[in-house]
Amino acid sequence: MYFGVDYHPEQWVYPYGGTRENPEAAWERDMELMQTAGINVVRMGEFTWGLCEPEEGKYDFAWLKRVMDLLGKAGIKVVLATPTAAPPIWLARKHPEILPVDERGLIKHEGTRRAICLNSDVYWEHSKRIVENMAQALGPHPQLLAWQIDNSLGGNFTEAAFNEDTRRDWHLWLEAKYETVERLNELMGLRHWGQVVTSWNQVPMPMVAPAVHNPALVLDWNRFCSDTIVQFVKMQADLLHQLTPKCPVTTNLRPLLHRFDHFDVAEAIDFVSIESTAALRAKSAELACEIDMLRSLKKTGIRTPEGDTGFWVMEQKAGNVTWQEVNSLVRPGVLRMFTYQLVSRGATAIVFFRWRQPRFGTEQFHGAVLPHNARATARVFKEVAQLGDEMKLLAPSIKGTQVQAETCILYSHDNDWALQQPMQPNKFFNLREHIQLFYNALHDRNIAVDFARPTEDLSRYKLVFAPSLHLLSGGEADRLKLYVQNGGTLVATFNTGLVDEHNLAPDTGYPHDLTDLFGLEVLEFDQLPPGEENHLTFKGNFPTSHMHPARLWCDIIEPKDCQILATFAKDFYAGRPAMTLHTFGLGKAVYIGTQSHQHFYTDLVTWLRQMCNLHPLLKVPDNVEVSMRQKGDERVFFLLNHQSSPLRIQFYKPMHDFLTGNTFSGNYDLPPHGVLVLDEHAETKT
Ligand code: GAL
Repeated sequence: MYFGVDYHPEQWVYPYGGTRENPEAAWERDMELMQTAGINVVRMGEFTWGLCEPEEGKYDFAWLKRVMDLLGKAGIKVVLATPTAAPPIWLARKHPEILPVDERGLIKHEGTRRAICLNSDVYWEHSKRIVENMAQALGPHPQLLAWQIDNSLGGNFTEAAFNEDTRRDWHLWLEAKYETVERLNELMGLRHWGQVVTSWNQVPMPMVAPAVHNPALVLDWNRFCSDTIVQFVKMQADLLHQLTPKCPVTTNLRPLLHRFDHFDVAEAIDFVSIESTAALRAKSAELACEIDMLRSLKKTGIRTPEGDTGFWVMEQKAGNVTWQEVNSLVRPGVLRMFTYQLVSRGATAIVFFRWRQPRFGTEQFHGAVLPHNARATARVFKEVAQLGDEMKLLAPSIKGTQVQAETCILYSHDNDWALQQPMQPNKFFNLREHIQLFYNALHDRNIAVDFARPTEDLSRYKLVFAPSLHLLSGGEADRLKLYVQNGGTLVATFNTGLVDEHNLAPDTGYPHDLTDLFGLEVLEFDQLPPGEENHLTFKGNFPTSHMHPARLWCDIIEPKDCQILATFAKDFYAGRPAMTLHTFGLGKAVYIGTQSHQHFYTDLVTWLRQMCNLHPLLKVPDNVEVSMRQKGDERVFFLLNHQSSPLRIQFYKPMHDFLTGNTFSGNYDLPPHGVLVLDEHAETKT
């Protein structure tokens, strides 16, 4: 298992560290401290283009090689990042056309990272050159373990640029997709407001305009910008594979935040790396949801440096960030607990952002393993060093283990992009919040969840949730039917199948292509403002722990041959179905025509658990998060106490604790933010 830090040796040379005589002296001390903290890998290089190519064509990788040599002596491996996220100033001065133009037509100027248009030919040429030169200079170094392509792609709102090179590529992309201008006019519905075009080069980029752009055009624009990013990643991945075939490549991803198809990017790389921000004090279930989303991006063809089937955490924020209004410290023990959360959900490496607080630059006061003064007595350093010891201890037991889920939540970027557009039926509807309601209910029962695109093979899952697949292609609808036909249980909701892949609303009834699967048709959909509620009246054996409201969206459903599980309690659709069940082939299709409060989803999961024979991993009190990694019959349980007070857990059989070596049964008090890593082989390991 790899355990490391994001290291910026370029920031610790004289006069910021070292001495005039020995300007790089700080590096050796860094490495001694890294060894103390159990660190065996660093990620570095991500913003060093201007230092590695200070003038066009004049390369200097010698300093990076010296760092790698020293790391070699300390037994620390390296993930090297290609530095394309921050081109040098000379490049922008010489070729201002690489600078991104925003949707108002204004240039975003040089002087920071990401001052780039990803469609610029000049930028591509220079990127290729720096990547090739870096790979040739440092690729053979024995410390090199893997490559990180670029850094936080799409960050700082740079997924799209409205440059002339972009316009050219956009038109070529449209031509490849639609083949004829007539087809484009037709499928995009450009008759609306008479915006038909007669040649490719008339198709606008969705720049600031008096009214909202055609949603089909904006959807394609998002796809095009995403494809641009994917192609840029592929270009680098191909070069690196060619020059250093032994080194796997990755790129660091934020939780589906940036506007590109993360599944497509994951296909282009060998293993997924993620960023994690426990520092933001998000709820544990929200962080868990993000980790599960990112873990799920790549399910096959994974090649990690250590040969495991997992993902890397390339930036686990070691403390506060700098980009919130109030950047609070991360409380003692919280970093450790959330690091275990990452490991428990499949991480095979943890790399902390960052090694030391920089003395200059915009992230001057960003949290780090070491503070400005670099004292090994620092609180975070000690917490990380403790984790370093623990990871060494755990590594053999979790080697080769994986998270295995029997349930799955469907997500597609196309759908998300369609829903992010203005002029929605209800601007208070939020896909992520809707997903989170289902996720929380599963998480709180300790049921493992994967995420998947609707086009994936779903047959391995007993239960699949499809929250608001507003945009559903014909192919996706077929997949869902196949899944249920063969015995799966599918739970779908309102705001499903309202448009197809061309953003075209169906004339055959909603949900598009799925009325037979659910045995119903949605005739209309009513929207409620926040604060206004309808109510659900249940029939049959659905367990209701509370009164359940209907919020935001109420489908008016015409039942065909489905069973009605709940109806709306009031308004002109009182008594009409709100929740239904339909047997289709060997499986079952549940439809929920509204959004409710969290208790409803908890009850839903209780009901579905019995129907689908799903078991929580362990019986524990609320607020203890349980996850499991397994390899064959070997099962490693992780228990995390998210409370700031102890929690009493009762173990019905003896459990072996990997961190202390003890075996216990009966009552156990898990301390505040405490962690247990257990298996059931008590007898043999006591
Ligand atoms: C990341 C980025 C890092 C750093 C960090 C700050 O997204 O990759 O370079 O800026 O955010 O939290």
